[in-house]
Amino acid sequence: MAAFELNDLSGQVAIVTGSSSGIGEATARELGKAGADVVVNYHGEERNADAIVSDIRAMGRRAIKVQADVSDEADVVAMFDRAEEELGPVDIVVSNAGLQKDARLADMSLGDWNTVISVNLTGGFLVGREAVRRFRKKGLREHVSRALGKLVFDSSVHQVIPWAFHVNYAASKGGINLLMQSIAQEVACEKIRVNAVAPGAIATPINAGEREAHLDDMLKLIPHGRVGDPEDIGRTVAWLVSDAADYVTGQTFFVDGGMTLYPGFRGNG
Ligand code: BGC
Repeated sequence: MAAFELNDLSGQVAIVTGSSSGIGEATARELGKAGADVVVNYHGEERNADAIVSDIRAMGRRAIKVQADVSDEADVVAMFDRAEEELGPVDIVVSNAGLQKDARLADMSLGDWNTVISVNLTGGFLVGREAVRRFRKKGLREHVSRALGKLVFDSSVHQVIPWAFHVNYAASKGGINLLMQSIAQEVACEKIRVNAVAPGAIATPINAGEREAHLDDMLKLIPHGRVGDPEDIGRTVAWLVSDAADYVTGQTFFVDGGMTLYPGFRGNG
């Protein structure tokens, strides 16, 4: 066993896509707290990205912001290039960027379908593929981690819970599940660990309207009795990418306050 702390990410470089708000932001901050240097990827929200970068730097880490659209192949390659140039080889990649475009099936446009699949699923493929390429190029750095690289996908409870009026989103997350498992199977022998977190209802901008209008209904679906905090997810990711989870690969961690326990069946079904 190496001499460093199992939960410590010191000396490692992490990219978190979509980290200018919500779960991505909390994840970037938690990785920084655990010792990692962090690339804060954003698409639109540059000002938030600046604030997050300066907060992570105030922790004594290195941090940069990089604009990239994860559904654009050239942008993804350029993001990894910038990360390597400015912070060095990348050890940790969190593919988090995602969005919703909700509509009834009959009213869902092909554009709504394509946007969600492009960002949530194709984005996951592009980021995951580039991560694996760069981990191989970097080589093993046993003084910081036993793994050649760690890749985590942000999925959703809706990779297993069907979601009416959100068929594009649910399909993208169902796809992430087999994308994650298939990559994990392909690269496990190289000491690259690939996992996912599947958040339930977390207080982020993606569901702000839903929380405002239907909080009581939402809480009925959460046995734990509260909407999750982004940090609930960030802490799970920080553990998953640390050597404390060195034997964990191909798994999805549902961080959902019990939403996937089908609470509607608590009585007699
Ligand atoms: C969605 C949220 C939703 C939650 C639980 C997430 O994946 O992005 O909008 O509140 O699942 O249904």
